[in-house]
Amino acid sequence: MAMQITTGTSDLRDITKMERIGAHSHIHGLGLDDKLEPRANSQGMVGQGKARKAAGMILKMVQEGRIAGRAMLFAGPPSTGKTAIALGMAQTLGPDVPFTMIAASEVFSLSMSKTEALTQALRRSIGVRIKEETELIEGEVVEIQIDRSLTGATKTGKLTIKTTDMETIYDLGTKMIDSLSKEKILAGDVIAIDKTSGKITKLGRSFARSRDYDAMGADTKFVQCPEGEIQKRKEVVHTVSLHEIDVINSRTQGFLALFAGDTGEIKPELRDQINTKVAEWREEGKADIVPGVLFIDEVHMLDIECFSFLNRALENELAPLVIMASNRGMSRIRGTKFRSPHGLPVDLLDRVLIVSTKPYLEDDVRQIIQIRCQEEDVTLDDESLNVLTAMGMQTTLRYALNLISCAHVLARKRKSDTVKVEDLRRSYTYFMDDKRSVQWLKEQQGALVFEEIEGNEDVPMDGST
Ligand SMILES: Nc1ncnc2c1ncn2[C@@H]1O[C@H](COP(=O)(O)OP(=O)(O)OP(=O)(O)O)[C@@H](O)[C@H]1O
Ligand SMILES: [Mg+2]
Repeated sequence: MAMQITTGTSDLRDITKMERIGAHSHIHGLGLDDKLEPRANSQGMVGQGKARKAAGMILKMVQEGRIAGRAMLFAGPPSTGKTAIALGMAQTLGPDVPFTMIAASEVFSLSMSKTEALTQALRRSIGVRIKEETELIEGEVVEIQIDRSLTGATKTGKLTIKTTDMETIYDLGTKMIDSLSKEKILAGDVIAIDKTSGKITKLGRSFARSRDYDAMGADTKFVQCPEGEIQKRKEVVHTVSLHEIDVINSRTQGFLALFAGDTGEIKPELRDQINTKVAEWREEGKADIVPGVLFIDEVHMLDIECFSFLNRALENELAPLVIMASNRGMSRIRGTKFRSPHGLPVDLLDRVLIVSTKPYLEDDVRQIIQIRCQEEDVTLDDESLNVLTAMGMQTTLRYALNLISCAHVLARKRKSDTVKVEDLRRSYTYFMDDKRSVQWLKEQQGALVFEEIEGNEDVPMDGST
């Protein structure tokens, strides 16, 4: 028997997408103009013009649906904005095109195999835009009548709704009564109820009630009482990812797994059935495929099995654009004895477009520091901005950005809101950057528990050891 494939409701997906605030919260896009030229300082992005432009071009192709099944690699020294650019891309794509971000080490989990984790990540990045017909009840509320039982535990009621042509009475259950009171629906409101999900939308107040204007407040929207039938069919479009369809239809998991995030392994037979069904929907014109983007950060942490799996997966008909980032130079391919550029096997490298990110110029560092100060609500005086910029050039951009909030804490201890050079100087002595830390380790020879066993195998792109 053919299985019924469902795609869930749109409410459910809204909840699973949440935003976090963090190191990249100042990034709101790639900061490109209409011709894809990078603006000097826009949407939180500064400098790194070539890489941003390349990212913008790739996005354009994704949006036009022309570049599924390709791969791209951001290669560059640490803290040169690889992750930041990827996040900028995600924000430019819009809510309809899926963008999945994983760190390569997430693939090595105990609860599922590496290939399963990669498959899930790939399928998360493919959207299916589905056109569905839903039945709506739409009309003006004539009366809501609610009867409470003596204890108040159960409620029953009746809802009278009319259009200009007809009037109908519906029985209400507890759930509907609750949502009506939550939406503050009153007689005279024009509402729409989605029959499958029970979701109530308030469209406005009926013009017939406009004389109640004084009582309603100025922001009330008035609409005509709808015409014709109360029950209508309406086409709605929503986008889900293949992975969401997998999870919702896997009998052992069910859609609640989407909230828990723990989806376990999904049977390959189920995926085949879903692929067939989606292909059918496409042929019937009910669905479109929206190839999205999978971003794999720190990609050198994948091992040789994952790389060869990716090679194959990219050739699959339902493959997203895969973007990778690595800060390694020549380094060992995990799971082998061989060394290769960026820690990626040459056959995979051969398939990818490589974009390099370069260390920042002093002026870029200064502007990025300023943007972060705004984001973290910290004021630096001019001199400390210069000092912090110089520190950023000597150490890394990230170290300088980390010092902002440390120095702010010290400034507040002095009961001042403005960070001064002395605060920076003190934070600089409290917290080491990587170069000083290495120096310190050398001085401590033998005092720490583990020592280097063999020569340093991997060379970071900035050439330090
Ligand atoms: N061009 C830029 N404009 C604004 N902020 C940036 C830019 N580049 C980097 N940043 C910020 O600098 C910090 C370090 O950058 P990011 O984390 O993107 O580096 P990375 O290249 O991913 O480094 P790694 O190789 O260590 O992962 C982040 O807070 C990031 O948001
Ligand atoms: Mg990064």
